[in-house]
Amino acid sequence: MEADSRRLIHHVAFLVYICLLGGVDGATDPNDFEILNDFRNGLENPELLKWPANGNDACGPPSWPHVFCSNGRVTQIQVRGLGLQGPLPQNLNRLDKLQSVAFQNNKFNGKLPTFSGLSDLQFAYLDYNEFDTIPSDFFHGLDNIRVLNLDYNPFNRSTGWSIPSDLAEALQLVNFSCSGCNVGGPVPDFLGDLPSLSMLRMSYNRLTGYIPLSFSDSGLKVLWLNNQDGGGMSGPLDVIGSMVGLTQLWLHGSQFTGPIPDNIGDLTSLKELNLNRNHLVGMIPTSLANMNLQVLDLSNNMFMGPIPVFKASKVDYESNSFCQDDPGGQCASEVVALLDFLHDLNYPEKLALQWTGNDPCKGPWWGITCNPRNEVSVINLQKLGLTGTLSPSISNLSSLLEIHLKGNHIHGMIPASLTQLRFLWLLDVTGNDFMPPLPMFRNGVKVITDGNLNIISGSNKSPLPSDGNSESPSGIPSSADDQPPSSDLDGVGSASHVPVSENSTKSRLAAVVTAAAGVTFFIIIAAVIAAYCFRKRIKTKQATTNVVVPPKDSLDHDNMVKISLVDSSSPETQSGSVSANNNLGISLQVLRNVTNNFSQENELGRGGFGVVYKGELENGTRVAVKRMESGVVSSKALDEFRAEIEVLSRVSHRHLVSLLGYSIEGNERLLVYEYMPLRALSRHLFHWRSADLKPLSWAKRLVIALDVARGVEYLHTLTHQTFIHRDLKSANILLDENFRAKVSDFGLVKLAPDTEGSIATRLAGTFGYLAPEYAVTGKISTKVDVYSFGVVLMELLTGLAALDEQRPEDQRYLAEWFWRIKSEKQKLIANLDPALGAKEDIYESVYAVAELAGHCTARDPSPRPDMGYVVNVIARLVDEWKPSDEDTDEDPGIDLRQPLQQMLMGWKENDVTRYYSDSSSVGSSKGSNPAKPSGFADSFTWNDAR
Ligand SMILES: *[C@@H]1O[C@H](CO)[C@@H](O)[C@H](O)[C@H]1NC(C)=O
Ligand SMILES: *[C@@H]1O[C@H](CO)[C@@H](O)[C@H](O)[C@H]1NC(C)=O
Ligand SMILES: *[C@@H]1O[C@H](CO)[C@@H](O)[C@H](O)[C@H]1NC(C)=O
Repeated sequence: MEADSRRLIHHVAFLVYICLLGGVDGATDPNDFEILNDFRNGLENPELLKWPANGNDACGPPSWPHVFCSNGRVTQIQVRGLGLQGPLPQNLNRLDKLQSVAFQNNKFNGKLPTFSGLSDLQFAYLDYNEFDTIPSDFFHGLDNIRVLNLDYNPFNRSTGWSIPSDLAEALQLVNFSCSGCNVGGPVPDFLGDLPSLSMLRMSYNRLTGYIPLSFSDSGLKVLWLNNQDGGGMSGPLDVIGSMVGLTQLWLHGSQFTGPIPDNIGDLTSLKELNLNRNHLVGMIPTSLANMNLQVLDLSNNMFMGPIPVFKASKVDYESNSFCQDDPGGQCASEVVALLDFLHDLNYPEKLALQWTGNDPCKGPWWGITCNPRNEVSVINLQKLGLTGTLSPSISNLSSLLEIHLKGNHIHGMIPASLTQLRFLWLLDVTGNDFMPPLPMFRNGVKVITDGNLNIISGSNKSPLPSDGNSESPSGIPSSADDQPPSSDLDGVGSASHVPVSENSTKSRLAAVVTAAAGVTFFIIIAAVIAAYCFRKRIKTKQATTNVVVPPKDSLDHDNMVKISLVDSSSPETQSGSVSANNNLGISLQVLRNVTNNFSQENELGRGGFGVVYKGELENGTRVAVKRMESGVVSSKALDEFRAEIEVLSRVSHRHLVSLLGYSIEGNERLLVYEYMPLRALSRHLFHWRSADLKPLSWAKRLVIALDVARGVEYLHTLTHQTFIHRDLKSANILLDENFRAKVSDFGLVKLAPDTEGSIATRLAGTFGYLAPEYAVTGKISTKVDVYSFGVVLMELLTGLAALDEQRPEDQRYLAEWFWRIKSEKQKLIANLDPALGAKEDIYESVYAVAELAGHCTARDPSPRPDMGYVVNVIARLVDEWKPSDEDTDEDPGIDLRQPLQQMLMGWKENDVTRYYSDSSSVGSSKGSNPAKPSGFADSFTWNDAR
């Protein structure tokens, strides 16, 4: 018995052995042979198979190359990488004993045949081919499939496709791979339930939706869902925290949101984690920092807080919103408080993107305003759709004056700790979902809780402040047109909010108490008036506010003042403009030469964007070369930078400093401007003694004011586009040899990206010129420039700088102080710039300019005049004061508006060798093409770079 069965086993084993050798067992199944034949005949290059031309026994012996059989039935086709071209027979699934097919790395095309019913098939490699259609029943009945690779086939390209639920029956499936094969829709839930699935690779598809919850307890080791086209996958990453078997997790290049789950540390087998290029927020969990990863990529998200010291061997955390640049640093306490605040609001994307760096008073911190001591004084985050709760952490921002959170969806209670804020006088939580009870704020704090379902409106509402100010639509209290700009937001001349000084606190308190003593009647009247004013203001606002953009351009591209680059490069718009030749690029070496290698003697000045050098071309033309601080323009932003320059270079006006060219090489970004020999107006106003200059006469000042007004008016009224300077100040007004003024640096603010430092420098440098609505809400319109121009007028009148920390506290901000003196003629005259040596004959003119300055710096943008009006007023004064001043309006001999390169070409054609013999680096090319020396060969061409 036992001997029999042993013999039987031997017999069977022998047969199996024979079969594996290729089938000694006679003829190939005719059906299988027919399909093989169809396969061969369908190919464009069947010869590559090296199958005999007229045999009919594919299974042999010997079997045909690449074919393996068992009992006359084909079990394997192995044609990997043969370069085969053509379709597969559509009835391939009639080879129903197939166990393994390796079709990968060929050029098979057309419709992939269905694999329906191939229940013996265990391995199917179809990747890297050109199949353009996958039938919907392809996955049906693949009961034993273990490995299925479909990567990089253009299946159903136009419509995409989704993985049919037939695959849910593939209970043996270990590896499934379909990267770059046009799979759309959500990742099917059933993939998480496949008991054997260990590797799932679906990169470069069109997947959307969340990672299915079913994945949380799957046995997946490798999961690739990175780089989805068209939006990509979204939702939180919470589910990955329990996928403890993972070794590789690639989720980069998608739209995942929310923080990294804290339990990420439980993934103890994880070696590679790519989360870069998503919309992830929050702090980096310590558990992640402590993981022994080989690769960790967190770059290009919106992570905040400190950068921990990572244990991973290779880690990338570039381009996030961290508070420090390097691992291990801590965040400043105000930043900590603000980040806690953000945490409880679920890190809204807009803020997670903007609140970067370690100083809320520097850089683009949306909704945050600081006082001149660099403490946060206002939080203004209205109608941002904020959800979550209000963190008690903001009670650590001890200089807070105002908190505006109107129109969000914040729930929970208002933390009692807010009552500890000593300077707080306004908390506006109108239209949220807060719950009672309200904490007891001290007297005089205005708490507005209207429209919170559970709080009875007015239950803790202090009377309106006695100045009766209505609320502007933006929620920032605003004053009537003729009130000083600082009446209720101290220090607003500079658009910042300084903590209330003793005096003003007292008077405000007194006022509030008085008001409180009044009857409800008063409140009702006040409310009616407020409502009336509110409506009226909305109307006027809509009529006059031109352009509204967020404080940083990157924020919301739809709202930007966007200059159409397409237009600017089209031939039509070019023809009438400055440079028919767009080629403004200039080699760095040339600029080195003309500036004497950026020597210190050539330095003209330093500003927020870098150092300016004097340069002299061989023909004697002088230029100013601005060498941007490295980091002001990141290499990422280069294309934008170039594009902007091309636009700026087209802006041409007698009272705007012409941009002649630029150079971009390596880290160097240089701008070449026409040279203005008498340099900045600020020098002549504030440093004339030390610079050994004569003070400017009143007549000159008026002409300068007119020139500037004209330049700015031109910027504001360019056809098809509005240009807002945003950084107008006396340091940006340059004078030519005849004291005629030109405005410079327009557009530079736009060039500066969202990196730390750049905008900060600008804000710090121009604090005294910032319009309040711009600084507080980021709203920008041409009226922002009008405000700054008003401050320049004040400087021309008083000889005082817009902001000077050395002056007594009440005079620090020129705009604020000027409002107090401007209406009293005597005071005004007493405070005129002594250098004017003013006599009575100029008084009328002075009064008029003072009035105009006041007008221009009105608190609200709408009553500020536009530049056209300003030009008219000043033009009249200039006429009255000195009819037809020295008229230098003719063009200078050289056309400075010609692109620099053309200018250089002009003289170089005459004398190329002389110039280049001095210059070793380009000397070698001399003579090869005298009209086009190599210095220019690689200079940038606009059209090429598009
Ligand atoms: C792919 O496209 C073909 C032809 O349009 C269609 O019949 C098929 O169902 C699609 N495949 C899948 C899996 O949806
Ligand atoms: C699945 O893929 C992994 C990674 O490529 C490989 O190591 C493993 O051997 C594959 N499994 C099978 C059953 O082929
Ligand atoms: C305020 O700051 C201190 C010290 O930084 C911190 O210990 C405390 O928790 C903070 N308070 C709140 C309410 O966040």
